[in-house]
Amino acid sequence: MTGDPTHRPNEIDRQLTDPEFFASGGHHDLFRRLRADEPVRWTNGSAARPFWSVSRHADCVHILRDPHTFSSRLGGLLPLSAEEPDEHQLIAGGYGSIPTHTDPPHHMTLRRPFNKFFSAPTLAPMLGRVQACVDRIMDEILPRGECDLVDDVAAQLPTRIVCEMMGVPQQDQARIRHYCAAFMGAQDPVYQIDGDPLKTQQTNMRALFDYMFELAMRRRGTPTDDFTSVIGNLEIDGEKLSERDVGWWCFSIVAAGLETTRDTVSVGMLELLNQPAEMARLRAEPELMNLAIDEIVRWVNPAMHKFRIATRDVELGGKTIRKGDWVVAWLVSANRDEEAFDEPYRFDVGRKPNAHLGFGVGEHSCIGRHLARMEMQAMITALIERTPDMALAGECEWLVSNKHTVLKHMPVRFTPRPRMAA
Ligand code: HEM
Repeated sequence: MTGDPTHRPNEIDRQLTDPEFFASGGHHDLFRRLRADEPVRWTNGSAARPFWSVSRHADCVHILRDPHTFSSRLGGLLPLSAEEPDEHQLIAGGYGSIPTHTDPPHHMTLRRPFNKFFSAPTLAPMLGRVQACVDRIMDEILPRGECDLVDDVAAQLPTRIVCEMMGVPQQDQARIRHYCAAFMGAQDPVYQIDGDPLKTQQTNMRALFDYMFELAMRRRGTPTDDFTSVIGNLEIDGEKLSERDVGWWCFSIVAAGLETTRDTVSVGMLELLNQPAEMARLRAEPELMNLAIDEIVRWVNPAMHKFRIATRDVELGGKTIRKGDWVVAWLVSANRDEEAFDEPYRFDVGRKPNAHLGFGVGEHSCIGRHLARMEMQAMITALIERTPDMALAGECEWLVSNKHTVLKHMPVRFTPRPRMAA
């Protein structure tokens, strides 16, 4: 028997599987109670299948550090369908090729050659490019005196940086951005095709894959100086990556690199505006920025959860998780765990230590975190230095999702300034 035979579904099951509930922010209080009362809880709500909800920091770390027991074979996000993919769907869905949809030992074979490209020293020369991009964005918004901090600022930076890095031409960048937003935001009616989250997710995922695959195959024949050319011609043990692996790696970098950075910058700025004392502290002590970035990632939780499947029977938090059970490690809860953080509900830009799980942990931990940090640091620094009187100018709109923390819109105003001379 899978799951918890003693379980009787109640309001908590409904809430944990209701994306609207998360969009309203009610989940933090719920997780506070779950961590205390039932840290490993069978959850039988409206998800495609019941699953174990794991809410404590230590238990989430345990799961993410043990990819042999907790498999990523169906990806890192709670699936929208309960059906086991057939052979055709496995290939079409990138299972076994997308790093987040892969288990050891194949996962490390796929990931190892990429680690060096995403290390802090290798990425250091990107800083000039990131700073120039931030300056251009600031020059575009400053004369206006108002903007949507999501669309005009936070989404612009990762879209331009990652697309430029991958060789996606400027005229295609809005399209790529839409595929990513709709694929990640498929639970929200605003993106839905025929009111169907699964169809929305699959259609946009396919469109992004097809685009990146086609680009990568062109670069395989005729390399340029972009990273798609590097991936397209990468060799492991003297053999080129398969066409499929090339396509899914290019897909993964774009899919993972655009949304999360956008969300951290926008929600992070919202929190700084809501907490003027912390904003003032960061302005007075800019050397805190490095710590502040970690605190913002902890606070925002761009990835609310990570999904896994148990490969064997295992005990956790006094419960027996059976082989084949679905398991959700709620990072959004782990990052507010009283056992792991002093005053976890306080936003503290100087927090140290800060063992947050915002970038994950273990074999699948975020490969792009150094790039993300560089972008977030440059963008937030520019915003707080160059728009000292920034204020909200209307209602913020949240994405309906229990997978990602996303602001759809954040209207702001500030004193207009003339464009800087070139
Ligand atoms: C604030 C920004 C970001 C956050 C919060 C974030 C978060 C995460 C998390 C939690 C994981 C773990 C997935 C798992 O355990 O299943 C992950 C993996 C990954 N991230 Fe990020 N990410 C960010 C930015 C980026 C960027 C900029 C890139 C690339 C340009 C990137 C590329 C990836 C890739 C390829 C993986 C899969 C690694 C693997 O499975 O081995 N991420 N990220």
